[in-house]
Amino acid sequence: MERILDHPVLTFERDKKVVFFFEDLEMEAYEGETIAAALHANGIRDLRRTPREERPQGLFCAIGKCSSCLMEVDGKPNVRTCITPVRSGMRVRRQKGRGEIGG
Ligand code: FES
Repeated sequence: MERILDHPVLTFERDKKVVFFFEDLEMEAYEGETIAAALHANGIRDLRRTPREERPQGLFCAIGKCSSCLMEVDGKPNVRTCITPVRSGMRVRRQKGRGEIGG
């Protein structure tokens, strides 16, 4: 697990645990955290692939202003996972390029 548990300046209020799915793998998250944060906490940093070269992409801005974290969420492509809260039962997948499913 790669979740930050203790920080010298920041405090983290964790809500209840929820289960979501990444590529059909069951993962735990805390209600209220973003999908990308939950994926990172579970060791997943490769969030999508570039359109032409299929290079792995991870978080870049982490504030909803780029396209590095676009993923398919519950069948909907191009969701910015760095600003979208994770929910119980959510199904998250990598996508290639601009909405193709892959990974
Ligand atoms: S990492 Fe830039 S929009 Fe999510």
